[in-house]
Amino acid sequence: MRSALITGASSGIGAALARALAGPDVVLHLGGRDETRLAGVAAACRGRGATVSTDPADVRDEAAMRGWITAAGRERRLDLVIANAGISAGTGTAGAESEAQSRALFAVNLDGVLNTVWPALELMAGQERGADGRRGTIAAIASIAAFLPAPGAPAYAASKAAVDAWVLGQSPAARRAGIHLASVCPGFIATPMTAGNPYPMPSLMPAERAAAIILRGLARGRLRIAFPWWMAALARAIGALPAPWALALLAGHGGKPDFRGQGLRDRP
Ligand SMILES: NC(=O)c1ccc[n+]([C@@H]2O[C@H](COP(=O)([O-])OP(=O)(O)OC[C@H]3O[C@@H](n4cnc5c(N)ncnc54)[C@H](OP(=O)(O)O)[C@@H]3O)[C@@H](O)[C@H]2O)c1
Repeated sequence: MRSALITGASSGIGAALARALAGPDVVLHLGGRDETRLAGVAAACRGRGATVSTDPADVRDEAAMRGWITAAGRERRLDLVIANAGISAGTGTAGAESEAQSRALFAVNLDGVLNTVWPALELMAGQERGADGRRGTIAAIASIAAFLPAPGAPAYAASKAAVDAWVLGQSPAARRAGIHLASVCPGFIATPMTAGNPYPMPSLMPAERAAAIILRGLARGRLRIAFPWWMAALARAIGALPAPWALALLAGHGGKPDFRGQGLRDRP
């Protein structure tokens, strides 16, 4: 029996991860605020034989997240936790990000990850080691955007850079506690998050393929799963340039809609 908990399982990559993991002898704890979409994903996973529970906890709610994760681990050993929930927005037509948008992005993308990973670390530290020698595995979804200063999406890229750096920095301590902690940095994945992007998205990949790459990387014990490799290498090369050069190269790229441009007044 394997057991996994995924935040942001009501859509996109999280839903694809849930479906990929689903099967007989699998227990899934799926999170997401849109209960209708979450119920649809849960039904698909049950159709594959999994035992599924859902929780509408907002990842920004520290107490609710700790309660959900602790209760899931009390039920049965938790093998895998994926801090996947996230939001994205850019500078849009205004060409600049509002303070509200910056704060909203950090609240979900960074605090939401901390609210998921810390209770998972504490829970797993008390678990027995499994057949893989680990007390558990935790992954946080960052982005290739973590490797660059992004004038078209400053807080999104910065929140992902913080997640990636924190996870990697924390991973040796997690390893000493018997837990594999990994950062996942995808390129462009075809999900509702990218559906409205008004710019070319090279190597745009179906969410199912991204889920397979992520799960394979975790099984192999990789600390950072960045894909596609060429985009990760290019982003890291641009990120290594002197800042004015990197910014000049990236100027005019991006232009992702801001919250209003996405039809979201002041999400969330
Ligand atoms: N798509 C890409 O190209 C790409 C690339 C790199 C990294 N990523 C990252 O991958 C992750 C998943 O993105 P996606 O593309 O699958 O986007 P998506 O389809 O928009 O899904 C985002 C998920 O996050 C959940 N979520 C958002 N805010 C939440 C909150 N406050 N509390 C709880 N859940 C919340 C959403 O649930 P509700 O809608 O039910 O609230 C939804 O399930 C994100 O962290 C994203 O930044 C995506």
